[in-house]
Amino acid sequence: MTSTAEDNLIEKIKSLPLPQHVAIIMDGNGRWAAKRRLTRLKGHQAGAEAIRRTITAARNTGIHYLTLYAFSTENWKRPKTEISGLFNLMTRFLQKETPQMIKNNIRLLTIGDLSKIPEKPRKTLEDTIQKTSHCQDLTVIVALNYGSRQEIARAFERLLETKSEKDKNILPEDIEKFLYTSGIPDPELLIRTSGEMRLSNFLLWQISYAELYFTQTLWPDYNEVDFFNAVIDFQKRKRRFGGL
Ligand code: FPP
Repeated sequence: MTSTAEDNLIEKIKSLPLPQHVAIIMDGNGRWAAKRRLTRLKGHQAGAEAIRRTITAARNTGIHYLTLYAFSTENWKRPKTEISGLFNLMTRFLQKETPQMIKNNIRLLTIGDLSKIPEKPRKTLEDTIQKTSHCQDLTVIVALNYGSRQEIARAFERLLETKSEKDKNILPEDIEKFLYTSGIPDPELLIRTSGEMRLSNFLLWQISYAELYFTQTLWPDYNEVDFFNAVIDFQKRKRRFGGL
């Protein structure tokens, strides 16, 4: 697509209310690679390029939060070589992209239990988080060693520590304060690629009222126009939040 056609899509998006927060279950790197008789790692490398394109697209529309499911608590079941390959890829990606993120006013945050992430990628993440902490246009939130049930259980554990024996009253807002996403608005749009239609333990609390958008596109093929089309689809939906 020409950049004029892309500009037209961006103009169309900007003329209607935007979602503040879009979350994505990036799926299909392995199948993309298998179709090409490539290694799974090649699929993840192509997936990292799709991440770059999607961040650019989100920034160009003016969306403020983009959450990406990069590594789940269940992904530790994958072969050790794939896991180390993914973390190496993420480390290189961050080292290369951090100056560009600062220039484009993009902040990095993570959700999930980083304590289990190997030292090198963890330190690189911490470095990028620190260097981009003042950036305000777009916040990219990478879910790493993240599981929604674990997040909710952890929030309860922390909430209960603040409560007395007699105080049995728990409000949703009390739980929210202890989620990884505390202070971040809930996603209004959740996208999943590769044709799978499940939530895979991702942001189960936060997507209570999100619009769901599924596409057949495998993540490494995902591009700016795919992202714009998902946002345009969202803008056509009637959101009633249980009302009429
Ligand atoms: C999904 O495909 C793959 C992922 C969610 C891994 C994404 C992570 C990266 C591309 C590493 C770089 C990360 C950052 C944050 C820069 P799959 O392996 O589940 O595919 P399949 O279902 O077809 O096997």
